Amino acid sequence: MTMNDRINQILASLDELQVQHEQDIEDLRVRMLGKKGEVTKLFEDFRTILPEQKKEFGQKLNALKNTVQEKIDALHDSINEGEDAAVPSFDLTKPGDKMDLGGRHPISITREEIISIFKKFGYSVAEGPEIEDDWHVFGALNFPPEHPARDMQDTFFIEPDGPDPVLLRTHTSSVQVRTMEKMDLPVRVICPGRVFRNEAISARAHCIFHQVEGLYIDKNVSFADLKQAILLFAKEMFGEGTQIRMRPSYFPFTEPSAEVDVSCNICKGKGCNICKGTGWLEILGCGMVDPNVLEASGIDSKVYSGFAFGMGIERIAMLKWQVKDLRHYFENDVRFLKEFDTVI
Ligand code: PHE
Repeated sequence: MTMNDRINQILASLDELQVQHEQDIEDLRVRMLGKKGEVTKLFEDFRTILPEQKKEFGQKLNALKNTVQEKIDALHDSINEGEDAAVPSFDLTKPGDKMDLGGRHPISITREEIISIFKKFGYSVAEGPEIEDDWHVFGALNFPPEHPARDMQDTFFIEPDGPDPVLLRTHTSSVQVRTMEKMDLPVRVICPGRVFRNEAISARAHCIFHQVEGLYIDKNVSFADLKQAILLFAKEMFGEGTQIRMRPSYFPFTEPSAEVDVSCNICKGKGCNICKGTGWLEILGCGMVDPNVLEASGIDSKVYSGFAFGMGIERIAMLKWQVKDLRHYFENDVRFLKEFDTVI
C-alpha cells in the first residue's frame, strides 16, 4: 500500500469512528500517535521516501497528525458535554434560599401575656363554645328581655326563634356562667376567646374580636380586691409606673360597675394624641357580680360574693403597640405581622 493510500485510509477510519467512553479515545490516541501508532509509523517511513516527494508527503503527514489530534480533542469535548447534560443543573454547594419564618400574631402574643399575668395571680383558664344559647350569653347574666344587646342589630343569631335562641356569643361572660354552673367554689378563672358583634367594620370596631374576661367568687370578696387585682394587672402589662382610675359604669351583670382607665404609657399622663389629651386610656369594664347572676347559677349570694372584669385583646394590643387601625389584626399583611417577629 502506498503512503498516500495509508493516509487516506486513516482519514476514512477517523470519519467512521464512534466512541462511548474516555477509554475509547485513549485507545485511539495510542493506536494513532503512540510509539507504535500508525501515524508514528508513517513518520518513520517518511525517512525512506525519495527526496523529491518529501515536501508533498511532509505536508500531508503533518496535516494528518493535526487532524488526528483535532479529532481526539473533539471526541473529548463531546463526551464531556454528554456528561454535563446528565449532571443536574443546580449547584448543591450554593447557600440555600432564606426561608421566611413565621412570627406570632400580635393578638396571640397579647393573649398569652394577659393569661400568664393572671396565672401568676392564681387564676386558671376556662374555655367555652362560640355558638351559645341566649341563657348563657344574656339570660343568666341579668339582661332584661328587652335589652338592646339582644337585638338583631347587635347580635348574630343562628336560631333567633324559640324560648332559648342560638347565637354567636357577644362576650365570653358566657364561659363565666358555665364555670359558675359546674365548678366548686371558690372560683378564680379567666376566659379568653373570640366574640362576635353585629358591627360595621372600621378602624375602631370589628364584627369579630377577642376578649379575656375574669371571674373571682369566694366568701368576702370586696371591691377593694377587684381594684387591687386590676392595678396589679395594669402594672404588669403596661409597666411598673402605671396608674389606674375607675369611673362608674353600668353592666346588667355587675353592681356596682366600673370602667377602668390606665395612665397613658406614651405621654406618661401629660396628654397626647393617643390618649386624646386626657392622659388616660380605657382598658376594661368590671364590677361586683350582681347577686341575681350568682343566684341564677345556683350560688348563695348571702354567703358568696365576687368580681368580674372583661377586656378586648385588640384594644390592649393597640395601646401596647400603638396600632391605629383594628383592621390590621385581621388582614394578615406580612409587613404588619413582621413588626412583631421579635416580640416573644
Ligand atoms: N362582658 C363585658 C363586655 O363584653 C365586659 C365585662 C365583663 C364587664 C365583666 C364587667 C364585668 O363588654
